[in-house]
Amino acid sequence: MRALLLGWTPSGTVCGIIGCVSDEEVAGVLLDGLKRVEYRGYDSAGMATVSGGAMEVRKGAGRVNDIEEKMRLSSMEGKIGIAHTRWATHGGVTDANAHPQTSCREQVAVVHNGIIQNYAQLKAALMKKGHRFKSETDTEVVAHIIEEEYKRTKDPLAATRAATKALKGQYAIAVMIQERPDVLVGARKDAPLIVGVGDGKMFLASDVLAFIGRTDRTIFLDNREVVEVTRTSVRIVEPSGKEVVRRPNQVAWELSDLSKSDYAHYTLKEINEQPHTVSNAYLQDREKLAEFARMIKGAKSLFITASGTSYHAALLMKFRLNEAGIMCDAVVSGELKEHAAFLRKGSVVVALSQSGETADTIEAVKVAKKRGAKVLSVVNAVGSSLARESEEVLLLNCGPEVGVAATKSFTAQVVVANMVVDAVLGMKRIRPAKGLTEAVRKALQMESKVVELAKRYADRSDFYFVARGYEAPVAMEGALKLKELSYIHAEGMPASELKHGTLALIEKGTPVIVVNPSGSNHADTLSSAEEMKARGAEVIGISDVRDDVYTHYVQVPALQSKLMPVVEVIPLQLLAYHMAVVRKNDPDYPRNLAKSVTVK
Ligand code: M6R
Repeated sequence: MRALLLGWTPSGTVCGIIGCVSDEEVAGVLLDGLKRVEYRGYDSAGMATVSGGAMEVRKGAGRVNDIEEKMRLSSMEGKIGIAHTRWATHGGVTDANAHPQTSCREQVAVVHNGIIQNYAQLKAALMKKGHRFKSETDTEVVAHIIEEEYKRTKDPLAATRAATKALKGQYAIAVMIQERPDVLVGARKDAPLIVGVGDGKMFLASDVLAFIGRTDRTIFLDNREVVEVTRTSVRIVEPSGKEVVRRPNQVAWELSDLSKSDYAHYTLKEINEQPHTVSNAYLQDREKLAEFARMIKGAKSLFITASGTSYHAALLMKFRLNEAGIMCDAVVSGELKEHAAFLRKGSVVVALSQSGETADTIEAVKVAKKRGAKVLSVVNAVGSSLARESEEVLLLNCGPEVGVAATKSFTAQVVVANMVVDAVLGMKRIRPAKGLTEAVRKALQMESKVVELAKRYADRSDFYFVARGYEAPVAMEGALKLKELSYIHAEGMPASELKHGTLALIEKGTPVIVVNPSGSNHADTLSSAEEMKARGAEVIGISDVRDDVYTHYVQVPALQSKLMPVVEVIPLQLLAYHMAVVRKNDPDYPRNLAKSVTVK
């Protein structure tokens, strides 16, 4: 099966949801889907089905594979079901707190992403009415309210709609009612939920990956809409109560993107996909690029906003714009509102996000829009919430990124950010930069050298990453990757900052990574490396030119300076990955994290 690799569909939520109503048994389909969205959260999992008029719920703490085995999920019967994989917010990681959550008599089952902020008040009121609670989750209140509303209305959609009116916070829910084994209901507010339209079956899911291979027809739900699906119908109701007819989109996908191929982990596969994904990132629409450039040039104030790895790409974009004489700032999304005084009519905010669902980034653009700013975004996920909040959208075109650590999305962001800046500077070229794919391949060939370094330094407790100028965000990205995958403390900073404090931490044997391409900052950065070496540091140089100061040298190919971060980051991604492997961490599922963070 084949499809375009141009973008993919909504990603990003802290938990993974899938529901299916079908003319066939659903347990296998749900299980399959659950495994594909597990990267969104992986501390507990569960499934509910209705068969022979009875609801059955099996769930528990642990990864999907453990729960599948322990609870024999695949043997559950029924042609309707919902399933969930959790990243805990309210309530610890226990069997009882795993989803689905059910009402008192297990008449209603709910799976949920997000946070119900007023759950404590709702719970107290429900308890007064005699409801008994079995978990500490915020989600359970939703099941109890729907039970009450269903008793009154006998209409699953009306009951869910009424329940959502009582909820404050964020949610994407899928609801199943024992008495109605023909119907699933979904609702969303500030968290993604999509419908998959199959033949004789319908899906509700937080991500298209959940049902890829079973259908490529998807309906995106808007905020606050409620949807009811049967095997053959979809009914969508707007917040006003009006029904809307929406045709499915054909989703561009590549089934093979979901397999690990021969790689041990998704993260390693995604790192190795970069020769291909960096060139795909060039598949941009000329008109859209021109519109980005026009709006950026005309902006009264200009911000680039993003979180985590995407923020490091934002810093690179800011650097290039500043270099071109365009004043702008890069601000982490969670902090953009603190700059509200500079957000007004005529302002432009460029938001970078792989998932397009990061809560901080979505909130930032909403604040900006409220104040009159226009929003442009660069995302990987077609149809994501961020894309729908934006005037214009450019896609990363790098296919699904399953590993929690952002890798190929970062290098694609660097390419697209550079294309935008080039368009601002009036450059017309939108073909892949000459030699880039080959250079990425060469950088990947340094893997065996990096494996040696990982083995040598895997027992260290601190790492430092330094660089100057345009390379400083690469150093920060290297440190973030290492923390996230290896759980080793790491700091990334401009080399110039070392002598203002951090140098005090350098002692005999401290590993320091220096990202130092040839160019105007090269000599100064070598001096910083000498200063650290003089204090006992073991300096690992990432550069296109060797120098004696480096205890270890990882060569990366020389490219035009604006694209050097693409090749410099590759050994750093590989180092973090191999460090995780040596330390026996799971690189695809680092502890405490989820692929994309849809809660504040
Ligand atoms: O989907 P986004 O690009 O908006 O995600 C932003 C960050 O949450 C993300 O880059 C995170 O920092 C990665 N896990 C880092 O590898």
